[in-house]
Amino acid sequence: MTISKERILTGDRPTGPLHLGHYVGSLANRVKLQHEYESYILIADVQALTTHFEHPGELRRNTMQVATDYLAAGLDPGTATILIQSRVPEIHELAMYFSLFTMVNVLRHNPTVKTEAAQHGFNDMPYGFLGYPISQSADISIFKAHLVPVGEDQIPHMELTRKIVRRFNDLYRPVLIEPRELISSVSRLVGLDGKAKMSKSLNNGIFLQDQPAVVEAKVKTAVTDPQRIRKNDPGHPEICTVFTYHKVFNAAEVEEIEHDCRQGTIGCVACKKNLADKLNRMLEPMHERRAVYEQHPDLVADILQTGTAKARKIAAATMEEVREAMQLDYFSKHQS
Ligand code: TRP
Ligand code: SF4
Repeated sequence: MTISKERILTGDRPTGPLHLGHYVGSLANRVKLQHEYESYILIADVQALTTHFEHPGELRRNTMQVATDYLAAGLDPGTATILIQSRVPEIHELAMYFSLFTMVNVLRHNPTVKTEAAQHGFNDMPYGFLGYPISQSADISIFKAHLVPVGEDQIPHMELTRKIVRRFNDLYRPVLIEPRELISSVSRLVGLDGKAKMSKSLNNGIFLQDQPAVVEAKVKTAVTDPQRIRKNDPGHPEICTVFTYHKVFNAAEVEEIEHDCRQGTIGCVACKKNLADKLNRMLEPMHERRAVYEQHPDLVADILQTGTAKARKIAAATMEEVREAMQLDYFSKHQS
C-alpha cells in the first residue's frame, strides 16, 4: 500500500529574476520539500498583473525567467509540478464564487494589502488588486493543499483562506481543505546596501544567474562596518552586511570570522573575497543547469505546459465537486 503524501502549494509573482533572498527565503526549502511532499509551484502571473497590467510583455518574460530560475535552483520537473496561474481558468471561477461571501472591508483591512497599496501609492485601487487575496485563496484550495510554505507577510492571506474554506464548507458541502502555513525561518535577507531587504527594485541584490565576476564585484560594494578604516582596526560584525551573509551562506566559518573581525586580524577585502567564493560555489551547479535550459528554451515551455495541464486536471476535479456543492452542475449528468 502506498501512503499518499501531503500536498504543498506555493508560488511567486513573476516580477523579475530571482535573487539570493528568494533562494534562502523559499526556493532552497522548496527544493528540499519536493521529495517529502507532493509539490505544486504556481507562477502567479495574474496576481502580478493586478499591479503590472500595463506591462504584459514584461510579465510574460518574467514568467519564463522565474521558471528557469526554479529549474536551475533544482526543482525537478519530474517531481514537482510547476504551473502558470492564468492558464488554470478554474482558479478564477473559484475565486468568483469565493468573492460572493467575502466582505470588502475584510480585504481593505488585510495588513499585507494595506502595505502593498501604500507602496504602490494607491488611494483608490483596482478591484482586482483589492481582491487578489481571494484569488490566492482559490490558488491554494483548488488544489486541496495541506501545507503552504510562505514568508510571514503571507499570514493574513492564509488566515483569509482558512476563513473562506470554512465558510464554503459550512454554506454548501465540506469539499475544501483548511491549509496550514509553513513559515520560512529566513524571512528576509538584507540587501547589499545593508538598509532594506534584498529586492530587484531597490537594485541591491545578487541574482541567482549572476556570473562569478558579477558576484565578486557586487560583494565588494556591500556595506561593512563604517568604523573600520584600516585593516587591523577592530571590527563590529553585528553591523556588517557581509557578516550577515556569512551567517547564512558560510555557517562553517562564522565563528572564526567573527573572532578575527573583532580582533582586527582579517581585512574586509579578504573577508568579502571569501564570501564571494562561497556564493559562487553555491551558484555553480545552478548555472550548469541553467545553461542546459538556455540552450533549449523549448524545454522550459514544455515543462510549464505539462505541469499546467497536470495541475488543471486536479483543479477541474475540485471544481466538479464545488459546482455540485453549489448546485451549479447543470449539465454534468446529461452531457457525459
Ligand atoms: N502572494 C504571494 C507572493 O507575493 C504569491 C502567491 C500567489 C502565493 N498565490 C499563492 C503564495 C499561493 C502561496 C500560495 O509571494
Ligand atoms: Fe564585515 Fe568581514 Fe569586514 Fe568584519 S572583516 S567588518 S565581517 S567584511
